Amino acid sequence: MEDRKPFEIQYVRSQFPALSQYVYNKPLVYFDNAATTQKPLVVIDRLKLWYELENSNIHRGVHYLSQQGTIAFETARKTVAAFLNAKETHEIIFTKGTTDSINLLASSLGRLLVNEGDSVLVTGMEHHSNFVPWQQLCLEKKANLLVAAITDSGEVDLEDYKSLLEKRPKIVSITHISNVLGTINPIEEMIRLAHEYNIPVVIDGAQSVAHQKIDVQALNCDFFAFSGHKLYAPMGVGVLYGKEKWLNAMPPYQFGGEMVNQVSIKETLFNDLPFKFEAGTPNVGAVLGLESAIHFIEMTGIEQIGLHEEQLLHYALEKLKEIDQIRFIGHPKKQAGVISFLIGNIHPFDAGMIIDKLGIAIRTGHHCAQPVMERYGIPGTMRASFAAYNTFEEIDIFVAAVKKAALMLS
Ligand code: ALA
Repeated sequence: MEDRKPFEIQYVRSQFPALSQYVYNKPLVYFDNAATTQKPLVVIDRLKLWYELENSNIHRGVHYLSQQGTIAFETARKTVAAFLNAKETHEIIFTKGTTDSINLLASSLGRLLVNEGDSVLVTGMEHHSNFVPWQQLCLEKKANLLVAAITDSGEVDLEDYKSLLEKRPKIVSITHISNVLGTINPIEEMIRLAHEYNIPVVIDGAQSVAHQKIDVQALNCDFFAFSGHKLYAPMGVGVLYGKEKWLNAMPPYQFGGEMVNQVSIKETLFNDLPFKFEAGTPNVGAVLGLESAIHFIEMTGIEQIGLHEEQLLHYALEKLKEIDQIRFIGHPKKQAGVISFLIGNIHPFDAGMIIDKLGIAIRTGHHCAQPVMERYGIPGTMRASFAAYNTFEEIDIFVAAVKKAALMLS
């Protein structure tokens, strides 16, 4: 974009009010970005404006506010379509988040394609939101859930993936980036391999969309799901991109207002795309906030954000290696700005509590990915995850805190 400013970290940080606060009398170091990102002023202001002056129900009224709200909402859909490079604007469905998007698919695409004795293929590094919906679908349909193994270094075992594809699963659903291991999966190749058998591929993009350019046409994925709140946007909004041919063939997921064309006592005719999948009043304010978050990313530059986070990752890995007892969980060749680690045999909650008291927000636990914990035989990890606004100085503070926790608990 022509008016993009050069990537200047203090300028980026100045747009996030939450980052200048103190917790426990210490400046906040926010390293829990894989769970949710902080929000820039443009997003906060957009929400405020919506609720202050613009609030109305959309697609339903002839009055001024409703018409303006409808235009704003549909413009936001165009912004999202351009952001993902979707071919058609009506291939963008607004949902509550990644979990909602994948539940929509498990219910609707699952109903279309999966029958008794069929199978669905996922990997062993999925977040519960891309695991449990498929598992439950398979239980209901008496189908099989196939799970591609992960290697010790935290990568999908591609030979296992290929051999499972030979079983001709009806759907493949894989994460782009692991929320635990940081692994960037070779999804281009995985999509191509699945398409050799004409299997549709769902990409869980919750952890990738804020860190690298997504082009759904270049990827040639059939579906791509993400959440707004991991992309500097409000909570309660997400997106499901789907190729038109699939969305047209799929039955509706939820029933009610807006997703219908005509209702009589005997039957209901459903609305066209994208409305067929958007029953009920949408979270308009959050959708407009998502549009503002996309503008923030475009102004800042997604490539520059990705590069900055990669530099933070390498700096943090080198610094953490100075700690004798450090154990990295996963060390994939291609890693995003997510580091899972343990200190010797210290329980992650114990160390996490000390690190918290030093003003540093990291996540501890199983990160909604218990099959990953099972794979490595651990109860959980500590996880630091980076965003556009994090700094090298924050990493120094974090590494000093990890050292202190190691000293206190060893
Ligand atoms: N999926 C989010 C995380 O990994 C909540 O923390």
